[in-house]
Amino acid sequence: MHPSAEAKTVAPPVQGEGVELVDVVKRFGGTVAVSGASLSLPRHGRLSIVGPSGCGKSTILSMICGLTDASEGVVRVEGATTMKERLARCAWMPQRDLLLPWRDVAGNAALALENHGVSKKEAREQVLDLIERFGLSGFEKKYPHQLSGGMRQRVSFLRTMAAGKDVLLFDEPFGALDSITRADLQQWLRLTLDEAPRTTVLVTHDVEEALLLGDTVVVMSARPGRIVQRIEVELPQTDSRRELLRHPAFAELRDELLSLLEVTE
Ligand SMILES: Nc1ncnc2c1ncn2[C@@H]1O[C@H](COP(=O)(O)OP(=O)(O)OP(=O)(O)O)[C@@H](O)[C@H]1O
Ligand SMILES: [Mg+2]
Repeated sequence: MHPSAEAKTVAPPVQGEGVELVDVVKRFGGTVAVSGASLSLPRHGRLSIVGPSGCGKSTILSMICGLTDASEGVVRVEGATTMKERLARCAWMPQRDLLLPWRDVAGNAALALENHGVSKKEAREQVLDLIERFGLSGFEKKYPHQLSGGMRQRVSFLRTMAAGKDVLLFDEPFGALDSITRADLQQWLRLTLDEAPRTTVLVTHDVEEALLLGDTVVVMSARPGRIVQRIEVELPQTDSRRELLRHPAFAELRDELLSLLEVTE
């Protein structure tokens, strides 16, 4: 995708900071889901969150995007602290694509624009350009059941990008895909974000994915989740996924993360 694709989005890119959590606690009734999480991510920074199941990763994403509020502490998204303002700034891409089965690719991709009041016809025209940039040309009129899992996730991502939000939240976006498609999409997402930068928070169970897609990785402890380590990912600048995976610095970071996860689980 080319950076000028941003011109097609509805909302202008928002200026300001990225995402910040200060001493955030989240309780559900008597359950402490997140206990004292602080983190800060600059605008267009890429953060990966790893941690054992149930440690509060999805809860952190819900708090960032204003679907739920912190019980204690402050959540800031581009300077905004209210749930409504946070919601307006974030787009969420879930693990399972939530494409509407009765809409074709272009119709699904256009949904976010329609939600912003753009007419159906105009929204469809606007996303056609993005469809081409996302390598989905020729599939505009196909329905979700006619697409592979990887393609469905690409449409889902396209829809997320078309919403024109500056903050993208990914909750295990490739978790349901086979390893080859997953590798392919990780690489594709990396290059797409290089061309059209966004502030991204990615939750993943996959340590390699966390390193490939994050410039910072935070490791959470088992419930009640705390941030136990923050790792800055300093790796050589290369587009080649294979080269990165083979690099000794990558192996070192992967081992460090795996041993931290062994301790936290
Ligand atoms: N709406 C809710 N009501 C009550 N408890 C909840 C709610 N949402 C999450 N929890 C609890 O909070 C804890 C953290 O859940 P969360 O879904 O954030 O974990 P997670 O790290 O995303 O796990 P997984 O890796 O399995 O997706 C869990 O114990 C969960 O049961
Ligand atoms: Mg989760």
